[in-house]
Amino acid sequence: MRLIIFGPPGAGKGTQAGLLEERHGITQISTGDILREAMAQETELGQKAKSYIDAGELVPDALVRDLAEQAIADEGHDDFMLDGYPRTDQQAEWLTEFLASNETPLDGVLSMKVPDDVLVRRLSRRRVHEETGETYHLDHDPPPEDVDPDLIVQRSDDEPETIQNRLDVYREETALLATYYEERDLLVPVDGTGGIEEVFGRIEEALDALER
Ligand code: AP5
Repeated sequence: MRLIIFGPPGAGKGTQAGLLEERHGITQISTGDILREAMAQETELGQKAKSYIDAGELVPDALVRDLAEQAIADEGHDDFMLDGYPRTDQQAEWLTEFLASNETPLDGVLSMKVPDDVLVRRLSRRRVHEETGETYHLDHDPPPEDVDPDLIVQRSDDEPETIQNRLDVYREETALLATYYEERDLLVPVDGTGGIEEVFGRIEEALDALER
């Protein structure tokens, strides 16, 4: 299936896309993960993206488009879930045209609904493994005891002011894409509140409905 998982920062997109890859073999394509990896490797792309990411701003469309195109092509244009792409009108238009030109249209857009206070709690308590990129939450999904605590860090964009800016940017530039996909009959709202497995159960139900 060709899917997008859509929603605000902290909605659980990465967590759910990771589970979907593990249990259903649908590859997660996260533009955020690709950019963070480029930053860690200090590539030219990583150096260009760093100031935007650290400030909670969007990386310019032209830089992210090539990543998305390459990652989708690497997957053979099938069985992928885009996580964090698209985020602007321009990105959504490009994606629609790119997929149409390959005759591989989207099957659905899962839109995660989570209230702001829950988003802030999830983001401020998130921690990641510096080397593997594995994501944890200090309350709901703490790092296992055998993991070296020195390797567990906070993302540079999970500071309180940056979280607030990311939520503002989402509302101003990204949230309206829900209407774009609703008009194309692709939007599937998913309640993203509750435990990780509870939400995953809802995602599986949504996928069953899309397959029918
Ligand atoms: P990106 O990495 O995509 O960040 P984001 O969209 O802001 O989303 P997050 O990764 O913060 O949250 P998530 O929804 O994946 O939640 P998660 O599963 O981790 O992008 C980062 C930056 O890169 C952007 O700000 C931008 O600068 C740039 N960028 C990326 N794509 C771009 C694009 N297309 N265009 C331009 N710029 C782009 O969960 C969060 C926490 O909650 C975790 O600790 C998790 O364990 C916990 N959790 C998850 N689900 C639950 C649950 N059900 N109950 C309790 N805890 C939970």
